[in-house]
Amino acid sequence: MARAREARARAHSPYSGFRVGAAARDAGGRVFTGCNVENASLGLTLCAERVAVVKAVSEGAERLVTLAVATDRDRVVMPCGACRQVLLELAPRLRLIVAGKGNRRRRTTVRELLPDAFGPADLTRG
Ligand code: THU
Repeated sequence: MARAREARARAHSPYSGFRVGAAARDAGGRVFTGCNVENASLGLTLCAERVAVVKAVSEGAERLVTLAVATDRDRVVMPCGACRQVLLELAPRLRLIVAGKGNRRRRTTVRELLPDAFGPADLTRG
């Protein structure tokens, strides 16, 4: 969570003013961070969670085990639907810890966040 909060400080979010940081840890203990990166063409915005896990994959991470997410709100704000789908694809057994500014945290899993998901197995024939 400390690494997620550090990454949150690097958010590029001039349009929403909403800052998010994320830090993914792999089975070998390496940590990959991300922040949200907005764009004037708003649909191109990247969420912090996706930046972190895509960086992890591109840097050769082992299996991702935990993702810490930190927003700049007092309450705990959970990952968006698009991120849930991407997390399921890249880290299906991921555990998440989500926090706002204070001490309140929520712990969950990708499976819990995206029940009955469409996923890689659905593309196999039969
Ligand atoms: N955002 C994230 O980084 N993660 C989420 O799960 C929800 C939304 C960012 C995207 C955008 O920069 C801002 O928060 C408002 O949607």
